[in-house]
Amino acid sequence: MSWSSNEVHLASRPTGYPDAGTWSAVTVEVPEPGEGQFVVKVDHISLDPAMRGWLNDVRSYIPPVQIGEAMRAMCTGSVVASRHPDFAVGDAVAGTFGVVEYALSDGTGVTTIDLGVAAAPTWLGALGMTGMTAYFGLHDVGRIKAGETVLVSAAAGAVGSVVAQLAKAEGCRVIGIAGGPDKVAWLKEIGLDEAIDYKSENVLRRLREIAPKGIDVYFDNVGGDILDAALANLRRGARVVICGAVAGYNDETLAPGPKRYMSLLVFRATMTGFVVFDYEDRFPEAVAAISEMIADGRLVARETVIDGGVAAFPDALLGLYAGVNTGKLVLKV
Ligand SMILES: NC(=O)c1ccc[n+]([C@@H]2O[C@H](COP(=O)([O-])OP(=O)(O)OC[C@H]3O[C@@H](n4cnc5c(N)ncnc54)[C@H](OP(=O)(O)O)[C@@H]3O)[C@@H](O)[C@H]2O)c1
Repeated sequence: MSWSSNEVHLASRPTGYPDAGTWSAVTVEVPEPGEGQFVVKVDHISLDPAMRGWLNDVRSYIPPVQIGEAMRAMCTGSVVASRHPDFAVGDAVAGTFGVVEYALSDGTGVTTIDLGVAAAPTWLGALGMTGMTAYFGLHDVGRIKAGETVLVSAAAGAVGSVVAQLAKAEGCRVIGIAGGPDKVAWLKEIGLDEAIDYKSENVLRRLREIAPKGIDVYFDNVGGDILDAALANLRRGARVVICGAVAGYNDETLAPGPKRYMSLLVFRATMTGFVVFDYEDRFPEAVAAISEMIADGRLVARETVIDGGVAAFPDALLGLYAGVNTGKLVLKV
């Protein structure tokens, strides 16, 4: 027996936004698993801003996706055939299977997930890589303390919404930045102290009004002008956590660096980048903490799930850069 898998492969490297020429639709026959292998039927695919970076042929924290390969993506799915001692038919699993319908795996990087704890999309969001990013970025890099003022950008997104709620649970005053009135209203609903709509408000001015003593921790998901506005409003000893810079991922030329970096000197502040995969050994700690918070209602895990299967991947990915999602953006297969 074999499984026909519709897949999205990288056809050519884009400049600027990916377009129709970037991708090819391919059908692959996935064979019976050999000894130590199993086959997964993918049910949900994670959409991540970083996917754009994985298309560039540059030195990074992870090798680029090669032309002709299935697009890399984190997924959830179920085991449909197995000759692996640790994975049985029917197990729910998460792993980097790609933008595919079926995947052959030897178990590397694959974990079993408990759908009784949370539904599959949450295992790609608050209990998945983005939740891990929020947890370790905030605690280990941001070193937040109760009573501090925490600012987070892309606050209504996957990482940002978990960052904001973890910081609230730690007793911090939390300010979120997001695009549009609906996202701002949701951030208030989940307990943020303040929310700024960067599309209709002057972020620099608003920050000075609502945080006159400055920001202790800025969790940066977007870079660009918002990073500059945050740098201009630091408090002495502030920590700027560089998680991502989604505002520039599709730029064809590099934008000038932060104009306000001298604030780091003035306020004795630090700016530190991090990559979540360096914390892999400690993911169980974060999964335990976040699932407990979901269970007792201290953390709302929200996902925006798009239908349409792997064929919908190219458009769904662009949706991230347009901000179509509240919470984690997931594609249903
Ligand atoms: N360091 C790591 O290990 C690591 C791991 C995972 C993710 N990340 C980074 O974390 C950040 C958030 O990722 P995520 O998965 O949680 O995505 P997300 O926040 O769920 O989705 C991206 C959001 O970014 C906002 N956005 C898009 N273009 C923007 C722009 N030009 N200016 C301001 N905001 C913009 C949109 O929200 P609005 O509607 O509010 O604009 C959109 O919903 C990304 O930078 C990602 O690369 C880093």
